Amino acid sequence: MNIKDLKTPVYVVDEKAIIRNLEILKEVEKSSGCHILLAQKAFSMFRIYPLISQYISGATASGLFEARLAYEEMKGENHVFCPAYTEEEMHELCSICDHMSFNSLRQLELHRSIWEKSKVSVGLRINPEFSTQEGHEIYDPCAPGSRLGIREKDMPEHLPLGVEGIHFHTLCEQDAAPLADTVAYVEEHFGTYLREVKWINLGGGHHITRPGYDIELLKKTILHLKETYDVEVYLEPGEAIALNAGYLYTKVLDIVENTLPILILDASAACHMPDVLEMPYRPPLRDAGEAGEKKYTCRLGARTCLAGDVIGDYSFDRMPEIGDILTFEDMAIYSMVKNNTFNGMPLPDIALMHSDGSVETVRSFDYEDFKNRLS
Ligand SMILES: Cc1ncc(COP(=O)(O)O)c(C=O)c1O
Repeated sequence: MNIKDLKTPVYVVDEKAIIRNLEILKEVEKSSGCHILLAQKAFSMFRIYPLISQYISGATASGLFEARLAYEEMKGENHVFCPAYTEEEMHELCSICDHMSFNSLRQLELHRSIWEKSKVSVGLRINPEFSTQEGHEIYDPCAPGSRLGIREKDMPEHLPLGVEGIHFHTLCEQDAAPLADTVAYVEEHFGTYLREVKWINLGGGHHITRPGYDIELLKKTILHLKETYDVEVYLEPGEAIALNAGYLYTKVLDIVENTLPILILDASAACHMPDVLEMPYRPPLRDAGEAGEKKYTCRLGARTCLAGDVIGDYSFDRMPEIGDILTFEDMAIYSMVKNNTFNGMPLPDIALMHSDGSVETVRSFDYEDFKNRLS
């Protein structure tokens, strides 16, 4: 099938771009000896889990359902972190995961009788209280009042019996320098525990596959941890695996006028790319410029009832027409995992563009998918 034959809206994941990212990550694993896991919260296209597992060590989950998905579809290690587990979840997680991190000492002890009988290697998530990002408090687990991780002042003198790992996740779309700074801070404040564990998990937020990322500093930081503490080092990026490796194709359904031409699309920020409103950010649009940069500036909006369901203002060399297909870029991550059917909007299909350029629709959605989530 050709791109032109796809029904819109559709997420198209670019296999070649995924492989390009995976090659970089594989090289980091190989030369530093770390283990890289796919954080499924960012990207859960399980159709390509077999491909992903040829390059990296496995996956990490935010809870039971993602853990089950990795267990069923991905070869390799299966890790999980959730701020609180229920007893029923704990039984199943202990049978399908090999590593599990707890967010509090209370949760660790509550479930001790279950995990102690299993083969799971257990860790504690710490909150280093060392923020390296500004502007996005919603994405900063070190922000004041955060519920994520145990603070230094709440840690016991030594790790509780059976705890084999330390986990921290503090970054968001960042380079290696903030990681190196965080590691130095953690060594200073949590150093005793690093000497007591078998593994350290550095969380996600590492933009390793972004051009210009300081891979050498990342490797140096990993090697330092491995050599100093004799530990296995884990990284669990989500974005880096599918960064710049997917598109959302959308059709112009109508054009209305209010101060400027407003294109009504069959894609929605609220339903199909929620981070555009949540973060917020303006997704790149192929062949378009900033407002005012090219001859025709238009606002791009959705066909939902939400007045704020606007993707942004973009400019074009030629005035877009009804029926045109527009291509939003970098739409593999935090898109299909977060979409919804608000207003009864159809979910975009999911397609895979193979390395030879052919395109395959992997999954189509219809009315039943909308209805089945309601009662
Ligand atoms: C615990 C944890 N690990 C990994 C990730 C993945 O982060 P990213 O997709 O930014 O690499 C997140 C993101 O929120 C997270 O909370």
